[in-house]
Amino acid sequence: MLPPTGGTVLDVGCGGGRSSLPLVPPANELIGVDASGAMLDEYVEAASRVGVARRTIHGTWPEVAVQAPVADVVVCHHVAFNVADIVPFLWALTDHARLAVVVEIPTMHPMSAWAPAWQHFWGVTRPDGPTSDDLLAVLIEMGLDPELSIGARGRPSAYETDPSTLVPVARRRLCLPAERDGELAEWLAGHAPPFPDKMANFRWPGSAEIPR
Ligand SMILES: C[S@@+](CC[C@H](N)C(=O)[O-])C[C@H]1O[C@@H](n2cnc3c(N)ncnc32)[C@H](O)[C@@H]1O
Repeated sequence: MLPPTGGTVLDVGCGGGRSSLPLVPPANELIGVDASGAMLDEYVEAASRVGVARRTIHGTWPEVAVQAPVADVVVCHHVAFNVADIVPFLWALTDHARLAVVVEIPTMHPMSAWAPAWQHFWGVTRPDGPTSDDLLAVLIEMGLDPELSIGARGRPSAYETDPSTLVPVARRRLCLPAERDGELAEWLAGHAPPFPDKMANFRWPGSAEIPR
Protein backbone atom coordinates (compact mmCIF):
# COMPACT_ATOMS: atom_id res chain seq x y z
CA MET A 1 0.00 0.00 0.00
CA LEU A 2 1.64 3.23 -1.14
CA PRO A 3 0.90 6.57 0.48
CA PRO A 4 -0.27 9.32 -1.88
CA THR A 5 2.25 11.69 -3.43
CA GLY A 6 3.34 14.08 -0.69
CA GLY A 7 1.74 11.84 1.92
CA THR A 8 2.82 10.87 5.41
CA VAL A 9 3.83 7.53 6.92
CA LEU A 10 3.77 6.67 10.61
CA ASP A 11 6.21 3.81 11.31
CA VAL A 12 5.58 2.13 14.67
CA GLY A 13 8.61 0.21 15.94
CA CYS A 14 10.55 1.93 13.16
CA GLY A 15 14.02 0.62 14.04
CA GLY A 16 16.46 1.89 11.41
CA GLY A 17 13.66 2.67 8.95
CA ARG A 18 13.62 -0.44 6.74
CA SER A 19 9.80 -0.37 6.51
CA SER A 20 9.06 3.31 5.86
CA LEU A 21 12.10 4.69 3.99
CA PRO A 22 11.26 2.70 0.83
CA LEU A 23 7.95 4.64 0.75
CA VAL A 24 9.83 7.91 0.04
CA PRO A 25 8.77 8.99 -2.52
CA PRO A 26 5.77 9.15 -2.84
CA ALA A 27 5.70 9.96 0.91
CA ASN A 28 7.45 13.18 1.85
CA GLU A 29 7.18 13.02 5.62
CA LEU A 30 7.91 10.17 8.03
CA ILE A 31 7.05 9.83 11.70
CA GLY A 32 9.08 7.17 13.48
CA VAL A 33 8.01 5.73 16.84
CA ASP A 34 10.33 3.45 18.78
CA ALA A 35 10.88 2.34 22.36
CA SER A 36 14.63 2.53 21.73
CA GLY A 37 16.34 5.93 21.57
CA ALA A 38 19.33 4.34 19.81
CA MET A 39 17.07 3.02 17.04
CA LEU A 40 15.48 6.47 16.67
CA ASP A 41 18.97 7.95 16.19
CA GLU A 42 19.52 5.46 13.36
CA TYR A 43 16.13 6.34 11.92
CA VAL A 44 16.96 10.04 11.90
CA GLU A 45 20.31 9.37 10.23
CA ALA A 46 18.69 7.19 7.56
CA ALA A 47 15.97 9.78 6.91
CA SER A 48 18.62 12.53 6.64
CA ARG A 49 20.51 10.47 4.06
CA VAL A 50 17.47 10.43 1.76
CA GLY A 51 16.60 14.03 2.66
CA VAL A 52 13.06 13.43 3.84
CA ALA A 53 11.28 15.38 6.57
CA ARG A 54 10.91 13.27 9.71
CA ARG A 55 9.68 13.40 13.25
CA THR A 56 10.36 10.91 15.99
CA ILE A 57 8.47 9.85 19.10
CA HIS A 58 10.38 7.99 21.79
CA GLY A 59 8.31 5.48 23.75
CA THR A 60 6.19 2.37 23.73
CA TRP A 61 3.14 2.05 21.51
CA PRO A 62 0.25 2.41 22.29
CA GLU A 63 1.25 4.41 25.40
CA VAL A 64 2.75 7.19 23.23
CA ALA A 65 -0.02 7.09 20.62
CA VAL A 66 -1.55 10.31 21.98
CA GLN A 67 1.62 12.14 20.91
CA ALA A 68 1.47 10.81 17.36
CA PRO A 69 -0.24 12.60 14.50
CA VAL A 70 -2.50 10.70 12.14
CA ALA A 71 -0.83 9.69 8.87
CA ASP A 72 -1.92 8.49 5.46
CA VAL A 73 -0.39 5.06 5.98
CA VAL A 74 0.71 3.38 9.23
CA VAL A 75 3.32 0.64 8.95
CA CYS A 76 4.46 -1.70 11.69
CA HIS A 77 6.90 -4.43 10.67
CA HIS A 78 8.50 -7.08 12.85
CA VAL A 79 7.01 -5.75 16.07
CA ALA A 80 3.67 -7.49 16.75
CA PHE A 81 5.18 -10.67 18.26
CA ASN A 82 6.78 -8.42 20.88
CA VAL A 83 3.45 -6.99 22.05
CA ALA A 84 1.76 -8.56 25.07
CA ASP A 85 -1.57 -6.72 24.84
CA ILE A 86 -2.15 -6.76 21.09
CA VAL A 87 -5.75 -5.48 20.82
CA PRO A 88 -5.18 -1.89 22.08
CA PHE A 89 -1.94 -1.84 20.08
CA LEU A 90 -3.86 -2.65 16.87
CA TRP A 91 -6.70 -0.19 17.61
CA ALA A 92 -4.16 2.60 18.09
CA LEU A 93 -2.52 1.75 14.74
CA THR A 94 -5.94 1.78 13.07
CA ASP A 95 -7.14 5.09 14.44
CA HIS A 96 -3.89 6.79 13.34
CA ALA A 97 -4.27 5.77 9.67
CA ARG A 98 -6.34 7.68 7.13
CA LEU A 99 -5.92 5.12 4.37
CA ALA A 100 -4.44 1.88 5.60
CA VAL A 101 -2.43 0.00 8.19
CA VAL A 102 0.23 -2.46 7.03
CA VAL A 103 1.58 -4.95 9.55
CA GLU A 104 4.21 -7.51 8.63
CA ILE A 105 5.49 -10.42 10.70
CA PRO A 106 7.04 -13.79 9.95
CA THR A 107 4.44 -16.56 9.76
CA MET A 108 5.99 -18.14 12.87
CA HIS A 109 7.50 -16.59 15.98
CA PRO A 110 11.26 -16.28 15.38
CA MET A 111 12.05 -17.80 18.79
CA SER A 112 10.06 -20.96 18.05
CA ALA A 113 12.93 -21.99 15.74
CA TRP A 114 14.88 -22.80 18.92
CA ALA A 115 12.19 -25.10 20.38
CA PRO A 116 13.79 -28.39 19.17
CA ALA A 117 17.13 -27.31 20.68
CA TRP A 118 15.49 -26.40 24.01
CA GLN A 119 13.93 -29.85 24.06
CA HIS A 120 17.25 -31.53 23.30
CA PHE A 121 19.57 -29.58 25.61
CA TRP A 122 17.24 -28.82 28.51
CA GLY A 123 14.29 -31.21 28.18
CA VAL A 124 12.07 -28.13 28.09
CA THR A 125 9.07 -28.00 25.76
CA ARG A 126 8.81 -24.47 24.37
CA PRO A 127 5.68 -23.12 22.65
CA ASP A 128 5.49 -23.27 18.86
CA GLY A 129 3.38 -20.09 18.76
CA PRO A 130 2.09 -17.49 18.51
CA THR A 131 1.90 -17.45 14.71
CA SER A 132 0.59 -15.10 12.05
CA ASP A 133 -2.64 -17.17 12.08
CA ASP A 134 -3.22 -15.99 15.65
CA LEU A 135 -2.86 -12.37 14.54
CA LEU A 136 -5.29 -13.02 11.68
CA ALA A 137 -7.84 -14.43 14.15
CA VAL A 138 -7.50 -11.36 16.40
CA LEU A 139 -7.93 -8.94 13.48
CA ILE A 140 -11.03 -10.78 12.27
CA GLU A 141 -12.50 -10.79 15.78
CA MET A 142 -11.90 -7.03 15.95
CA GLY A 143 -13.87 -6.67 12.71
CA LEU A 144 -10.92 -5.09 10.90
CA ASP A 145 -11.38 -7.15 7.73
CA PRO A 146 -7.67 -7.63 6.88
CA GLU A 147 -6.24 -8.60 3.51
CA LEU A 148 -3.44 -11.10 4.01
CA SER A 149 -0.66 -12.05 1.65
CA ILE A 150 2.05 -14.57 2.43
CA GLY A 151 5.40 -14.12 0.71
CA ALA A 152 8.95 -15.36 0.90
CA ARG A 153 11.05 -13.83 3.65
CA GLY A 154 13.94 -11.66 2.44
CA ARG A 155 17.59 -12.45 2.92
CA PRO A 156 18.20 -14.53 6.09
CA SER A 157 20.40 -13.17 8.89
CA ALA A 158 24.05 -14.10 8.37
CA TYR A 159 24.12 -16.45 11.38
CA GLU A 160 21.29 -18.54 9.95
CA THR A 161 23.46 -19.76 7.08
CA ASP A 162 26.96 -19.60 8.58
CA PRO A 163 27.72 -22.37 11.10
CA SER A 164 30.62 -20.40 12.64
CA THR A 165 28.30 -17.57 13.73
CA LEU A 166 25.32 -19.83 14.40
CA VAL A 167 27.03 -21.53 17.36
CA PRO A 168 27.60 -18.35 19.46
CA VAL A 169 24.07 -17.14 18.69
CA ALA A 170 22.62 -20.56 19.62
CA ARG A 171 24.71 -20.65 22.82
CA ARG A 172 23.20 -17.33 23.94
CA ARG A 173 19.66 -18.25 22.87
CA LEU A 174 19.87 -21.57 24.71
CA CYS A 175 21.71 -20.24 27.80
CA LEU A 176 24.51 -22.80 27.38
CA PRO A 177 28.12 -22.38 28.57
CA ALA A 178 30.91 -21.99 25.99
CA GLU A 179 32.36 -25.36 27.08
CA ARG A 180 29.46 -27.02 25.27
CA ASP A 181 30.20 -25.34 21.90
CA GLY A 182 31.56 -28.57 20.36
CA GLU A 183 28.48 -30.55 21.32
CA LEU A 184 26.25 -27.68 20.20
CA ALA A 185 27.97 -27.42 16.79
CA GLU A 186 27.61 -31.15 16.25
CA TRP A 187 23.91 -31.11 17.13
CA LEU A 188 23.18 -28.04 14.98
CA ALA A 189 24.91 -29.67 11.99
CA GLY A 190 22.23 -32.36 12.02
CA HIS A 191 19.31 -30.23 13.26
CA ALA A 192 19.25 -26.85 11.51
CA PRO A 193 16.81 -24.61 13.42
CA PRO A 194 13.62 -24.11 11.36
CA PHE A 195 14.02 -20.34 10.97
CA PRO A 196 10.95 -18.60 9.53
CA ASP A 197 11.04 -18.49 5.74
CA LYS A 198 7.71 -16.80 5.06
CA MET A 199 6.30 -13.39 5.82
CA ALA A 200 2.68 -12.50 6.49
CA ASN A 201 1.62 -9.06 5.28
CA PHE A 202 -1.68 -7.76 6.69
CA ARG A 203 -3.47 -4.69 5.35
CA TRP A 204 -6.70 -3.13 6.54
CA PRO A 205 -8.39 0.27 6.28
CA GLY A 206 -7.56 3.03 8.73
CA SER A 207 -10.27 4.87 10.61
CA ALA A 208 -8.80 8.39 10.89
CA GLU A 209 -10.83 11.08 9.21
CA ILE A 210 -9.80 12.04 5.66
CA PRO A 211 -9.91 15.85 5.23
CA ARG A 212 -12.17 16.97 2.32
C1 LIG B 1 12.79 -6.11 15.00
S1 LIG B 1 12.84 -4.38 15.05
C2 LIG B 1 12.00 -3.96 13.52
C3 LIG B 1 12.39 -2.61 13.01
C4 LIG B 1 11.74 -2.21 11.68
N1 LIG B 1 10.29 -2.05 11.81
C5 LIG B 1 12.08 -3.20 10.59
O1 LIG B 1 11.17 -3.84 10.05
O2 LIG B 1 13.26 -3.31 10.28
C6 LIG B 1 11.58 -3.98 16.27
C7 LIG B 1 11.64 -2.54 16.72
O3 LIG B 1 10.42 -2.24 17.38
C8 LIG B 1 10.69 -1.56 18.58
N2 LIG B 1 9.53 -1.88 19.45
C9 LIG B 1 9.14 -3.09 19.92
N3 LIG B 1 7.99 -2.99 20.59
C10 LIG B 1 7.62 -1.68 20.55
C11 LIG B 1 6.51 -0.93 21.06
N4 LIG B 1 5.51 -1.52 21.74
N5 LIG B 1 6.48 0.40 20.84
C12 LIG B 1 7.47 1.02 20.15
N6 LIG B 1 8.54 0.36 19.64
C13 LIG B 1 8.61 -0.96 19.84
C14 LIG B 1 12.04 -2.07 19.04
O4 LIG B 1 12.70 -1.13 19.87
C15 LIG B 1 12.76 -2.25 17.70
O5 LIG B 1 13.45 -1.09 17.29
